[in-house]
Amino acid sequence: MNIQYDEQISDYINRIKQRNAENEQSGKISYAHILTFGCQQNEADSEKIRGLLLQMGYRLTDTPENADILLLNTCAVREHAELKALSVVGGYKHIKTAKPDILIGVCGCMTAQEHRIDEIKHRYPYVDFTLEPSQIHRLPELIYRKLNGKRRIFLSCDDKEAYRAVEGFPIDRELSHRAWVSIMYGCNNFCSYCIVPYTRGRERSRNSEDILNEVKDLIAKGYKDITLLGQNVNSYKSDCDFAELLERICELDGDFLIRFMTSHPKDVSDKLIEVFGREKKIAPHFHLPVQSGSDRILKLMNRHYDTAHYLSTVDKLRKANPNVSLTSDIIVGFPSETDEDFEKTVELVEKVRFDMIYTFIYSKRKFTPAAKMEEQIDESVKSKRLARLSDVQESICIEKNKIYEDKTIRVLTDAMSRNQGILSGRTDTNKLVHYEGDESLIGQYVNVHIDRADAYAMYGKIVLDK
Ligand code: 5AD
Ligand code: SF4
Repeated sequence: MNIQYDEQISDYINRIKQRNAENEQSGKISYAHILTFGCQQNEADSEKIRGLLLQMGYRLTDTPENADILLLNTCAVREHAELKALSVVGGYKHIKTAKPDILIGVCGCMTAQEHRIDEIKHRYPYVDFTLEPSQIHRLPELIYRKLNGKRRIFLSCDDKEAYRAVEGFPIDRELSHRAWVSIMYGCNNFCSYCIVPYTRGRERSRNSEDILNEVKDLIAKGYKDITLLGQNVNSYKSDCDFAELLERICELDGDFLIRFMTSHPKDVSDKLIEVFGREKKIAPHFHLPVQSGSDRILKLMNRHYDTAHYLSTVDKLRKANPNVSLTSDIIVGFPSETDEDFEKTVELVEKVRFDMIYTFIYSKRKFTPAAKMEEQIDESVKSKRLARLSDVQESICIEKNKIYEDKTIRVLTDAMSRNQGILSGRTDTNKLVHYEGDESLIGQYVNVHIDRADAYAMYGKIVLDK
């Protein structure tokens, strides 16, 4: 059963809202600032946190120094992300000194680990509270308790699944044409390198009806591109499975595209591939992390598939939709990875010819099985492998993007680049395109004639007719 955003939460929200309203009447506006690290799931969590903050009567500010409440939404997937977050928290010290009444909270995956909570308790005494991802709905309670008492609060939860998918969150979405919709939380896969099952708990899927209502509402508001999110969307399960959920969404009226991530290769069913190939409202992009091209390493990673299975899924996807853009995640330097194992990864990348890969240096995560494995790989070897793999993929990206030169393609405009007068947008296949235009085009589809392409983007001009 999923819990509803309940009366008690609303009660805390109303009390804080009243306090903030009274302050505004005497000329003091309350501001909140939130900085987000990490994956799309974290971005989606921050949209909920912002929704809660706005409901409580806070106004949002981009300037941490102006805030009355300062939040950092952290990531724990790699050590680098944690160190970056801790260094930002370190920088908050001078803000607290200058403004002792400010509330500082750290949330996200980093704060779902006991050793990090201890570290924050002892090394960052000016942090007022921590709040792990399964507990976001308790933010109003934390703020209320902190505004009315001095004790620091470290809200962790051993029983994350007790808090099923919370429904009814207010969401302050970043954009008005692209949206994230979380369809499930947590992960059951325990890939041996990954911290996520420990920080986000076991899988819990939202009810299909709640998801359909959220998507319907987005379409009615004019959203054109909607991404369903989950650590492993293919194992979505409620009164229907993931393929059926996609079909039901595609039956909704409206001009929109639906995407999803992340898919686990072991769970991509033939039914899903069939629906993916048939439904025109599903974007022609499939993100399918392979992680390694060596069967031995895949086994050690606890991935439950081998390269033959992966390659056959890729074939089926390309048969179902020859225009599919395929992307992947790959880890280099997993414990005991030999030069031969790594060469197999390079071979797989050359064979599949992905449209894009996200490459990561293996990062040891405390308490995961891989962290205890002997034969951890030297950092210099890991870096060399990363550089070689990136070079191989760069050449493939250039070749693949050059195919678009002199062609006209549909692009959804996202933003003005730092380079004024140059817009950036994404194709249906999720490729980045830059073109001249003004801000009124943000959120609109345009047809762009591609003049030039490199490994990372395409560059062109808007045309009126295709
Ligand atoms: N080290 C390096 N990369 C990791 N990922 C997950 N855990 C680790 C780790 N410990 C990568 C995987 C995953 C992506 C989101 O992050 O490739 O697909
Ligand atoms: Fe981590 Fe594997 Fe779950 Fe992805 S599927 S979140 S890599 S454990």
